[in-house]
Amino acid sequence: MDKPIGVIDSGLGGLSLTKVLVKTLPKESIVYIADSKNCPYGGKTEEEIYRLTRRMVKYLLKRKIKLLIVACNTITVTSINDLREEFKDIPIVGMVPVIKTAAQKTRNGKIGVYSTVVTSKSKYQKDLINKFASGIDVINIGSSALVSLIEKGKDKEIESVLREELNIFKENNIGTLALGCSHFPLIKRQIAKILPEVLILDSSGAVSRQVKRILEANGMLPTSKDSVYNFITTGNKDFFEKFVKKTLGKKLTNKAKIERISLQ
Ligand code: DGL
Repeated sequence: MDKPIGVIDSGLGGLSLTKVLVKTLPKESIVYIADSKNCPYGGKTEEEIYRLTRRMVKYLLKRKIKLLIVACNTITVTSINDLREEFKDIPIVGMVPVIKTAAQKTRNGKIGVYSTVVTSKSKYQKDLINKFASGIDVINIGSSALVSLIEKGKDKEIESVLREELNIFKENNIGTLALGCSHFPLIKRQIAKILPEVLILDSSGAVSRQVKRILEANGMLPTSKDSVYNFITTGNKDFFEKFVKKTLGKKLTNKAKIERISLQ
């Protein structure tokens, strides 16, 4: 059997990427881990984020993946260099918010970037803004509440947090909004309701295309036609299973294996 692509996230966010990845690379097998037990990662120290991330990567390496996608902006901005240093044998692709596209597509020279607090304050994200959006007004804000609410499926609370936090983008009349947290595409519809005039962009397409290019360039595309999907959580299995099915649809999840594990 072909080796699968490994996808990690602190929780459910990477499922938004996985949905697009499956469309871009339908023959690939995927094994996904959500560390929902320890989510959100945003409030943790960089050392703790790395320790938890490492456990997921080691587990996936035992399962022999061919490429790792870090489908979490918070892990990417804090840990991607160390991960590439420690796990040299496989290509590692991180999440990068589409600030360049947001800057290119804005109609009025104003863009918003919406991520977690850790990501919004990171040097990684600030460097991207300086590189790709110089001369443009950038409103870069981090949310400390949303990830936990998305993990718990608290739709009403999500809406009231969005009404409050998105106000600054409204007041500043931004033209485009780059989502810098992989959980946020999962609530894109609620965001669009509050910012109807704004073009909302996420990185799922860009990251999926990047993965395809890497696999092609290294002769690593699958040889068999049968893709196998495995979704793993460290948290509540019932909730996870429902969420996976709702997000990815029955056609894909009917043949998927969904399980709970504990990592040490
Ligand atoms: N999906 C993660 C991200 O993209 C959420 C981070 C967290 O767990 O705080 O940033």
